[in-house]
Amino acid sequence: MKKDLVSVSDLTKSEIEKMFVLSKKIKSKTKKGIAHRVLKEKTLAMIFEKPSLRTRVTFETGMTQLGGHAIYLAPADIQLGKRESVADVASNLSRWVDAVMARTFSHQTIVELAENATVPVINGLSDLEHPCQILADFFTIYEHRAKKMDWRNWKLAYIGDGNNVCHSLLLASGILGMNISVGCPKAYQPKQEIIEKTLEFAQKTKAKIEILEDPFVAVKEADFIYTDVWASMGQEAEREERKRVFADYQVNAKLVAKAKEDVLVLHCLPAHRGEEITDEVIDGPHSIVLPQAENRLHLQKAILVKLLFNK
Ligand code: CP
Ligand code: NVA
Repeated sequence: MKKDLVSVSDLTKSEIEKMFVLSKKIKSKTKKGIAHRVLKEKTLAMIFEKPSLRTRVTFETGMTQLGGHAIYLAPADIQLGKRESVADVASNLSRWVDAVMARTFSHQTIVELAENATVPVINGLSDLEHPCQILADFFTIYEHRAKKMDWRNWKLAYIGDGNNVCHSLLLASGILGMNISVGCPKAYQPKQEIIEKTLEFAQKTKAKIEILEDPFVAVKEADFIYTDVWASMGQEAEREERKRVFADYQVNAKLVAKAKEDVLVLHCLPAHRGEEITDEVIDGPHSIVLPQAENRLHLQKAILVKLLFNK
């Protein structure tokens, strides 16, 4: 395993699959109330430049359940790159804590943290990727459908903005070999560098990768539909304009009806209900958003164990 989890592509197919096996064991222990304090005396520093519910609570709870401790560093606390350089923050933290998790605006900040820290650095969301989210999502897919890790037999349709979540979904699909169709407006498609990297992975795993504009074509024969907010954190000023651009990309009952009958719907949350997803879909029978959110906890505990023991 690499020292850090900056991109989902830091992991190989086999490392991801082993991570899922460990997550399953950890989840089962947690559900049975069996203590698993393998990170006793260990500390995780959590740097946040943006708000969070799930990432903060699941990392902090995960560390507690593993017998360790997490420190929340709010945006105003350290002012990355302003009060002192990213490199200095990374080298100082490395003298005190055992791992660093960071949620930043710029992906480059996480890259710099990782380069300058001697301890593992975990990407808790950047403008380019959201690897912890996507690993938890694929773990959820594994639990619900791809129980044999037979990724090639399944198709996921991502509808909406070609953003950080879409990027990590594409890369993970390519690495694992799951088919993915992305339906995004032309000006909001995923970055070319991510598409190219995904296609490289897909050559090996034979995943079918489609980048489309029409959401109805994208969801055809889909086993999973995934959506995310149209305006990500930091893009609040564009929210009204984006509402207009993405109006035809709403995951509603009409769109869901065009996928497979037993399609499952995912959303990383937070959701802007009535925008990218309707209440009837997110609260309806196809939705697995709550098990998906729960799995952030179990999967990230596995990430912490793997990175801290470096195996
Ligand atoms: N999905 C996710 O990362 O949620 P938060 O922004 O609440 O952490
Ligand atoms: N794309 C969203 C994901 C939130 C978890 C954002 O970056 O705000």
